[in-house]
Amino acid sequence: MEQKLEFNYEEYKDASELNGSDAQLLAKARAVTSQAYAPYSHFNVGAMAILENGEEVAGTNQENASYPVGICAERVLLGTAANMFPGVPIKTLAVSYNGTGVVSDHPISPCGMCRQALLEFETRTKKPVRLILGGMEGKVFIIPSASLLLPFAFTSDELK
Ligand code: THU
Repeated sequence: MEQKLEFNYEEYKDASELNGSDAQLLAKARAVTSQAYAPYSHFNVGAMAILENGEEVAGTNQENASYPVGICAERVLLGTAANMFPGVPIKTLAVSYNGTGVVSDHPISPCGMCRQALLEFETRTKKPVRLILGGMEGKVFIIPSASLLLPFAFTSDELK
């Protein structure tokens, strides 16, 4: 029998439609793109999260001459959060991007590997990671839980 998957998310014309704290977090994600190390792709990704304890944690992509060694902004952020504030859930994580020749006027969403990592972060902290996705300008998406981006995920349930 045919099944259907759907999820709800919010879409805004631009960051000016966001509430104050969401707009601020996206502004910080945009600003932190300057800390990306992306000499190969010239695609700078900035991520900024606010945690349940009120602390903020940043992440940027860190590339490598051996290309597969590079790490996405989202996973750099998750590792940093887990080490600086062990066990503390992430409330909201904003992701933005820019770069040479990059038109940053629409949201990008986390790659498959980062979706898997975000899902496990949600599981281990028992709280959804709310995502704000937007470029340096233009449309913004708010997704209530990163897990929505990875239906039929492989999880630790299978390893018991
Ligand atoms: N990248 C991220 O950091 N996050 C994403 O959501 C998408 C892609 C990085 C990986 C690589 O350094 C560059 O962007 C181009 O793929």
